[in-house]
Amino acid sequence: MQRVLFVCLGNICRSPTAEGIFREKLAQSHLAEQVECDSCGTAAYHIGKAPDARSQQAAKQQGYDLSRLRARQVQGSDFEQFDIICAMDRANYDDLMAQASPEHHHKIHLFLSFAPDLEETEVPDPYYGGEQGFKQVIKLCEAAADGLLKRLA
Ligand code: 4NP
Repeated sequence: MQRVLFVCLGNICRSPTAEGIFREKLAQSHLAEQVECDSCGTAAYHIGKAPDARSQQAAKQQGYDLSRLRARQVQGSDFEQFDIICAMDRANYDDLMAQASPEHHHKIHLFLSFAPDLEETEVPDPYYGGEQGFKQVIKLCEAAADGLLKRLA
């Protein structure tokens, strides 16, 4: 079993979106039985909460259901239990690298590194912006989820 973890700051916008999209694509692939995924946040602000209503709405419009996901914070055992840890932005990446022991650093990647054809290298935080930002998160996560699935295949 390969285990993939998606990480952002709050675990209510970007990383649950990434998880929901990857889950859906995984279920439709031949890897469904061989890969598991989860998401979490580097911060504790939103522990136990469902994804932001704006993220749920944007995802639903593209056919992804995020309603059952609940936020949690990253924990030390994640660096042992997961094989691929996908940070949404550079700040998340730096936080994860600072928390992980050096033997686990190779597991940590910028999520968009799996979509090298995109101009963007980070998934921008949509929390303080408008609807367009949430749509952009979906687009970026779809591209990176496709790339990650190909890498796992
Ligand atoms: P996320 O977005 O990291 O994509 O879940 C955020 C959610 C909440 C906050 C910041 C970003 N916040 O400051 O509460």
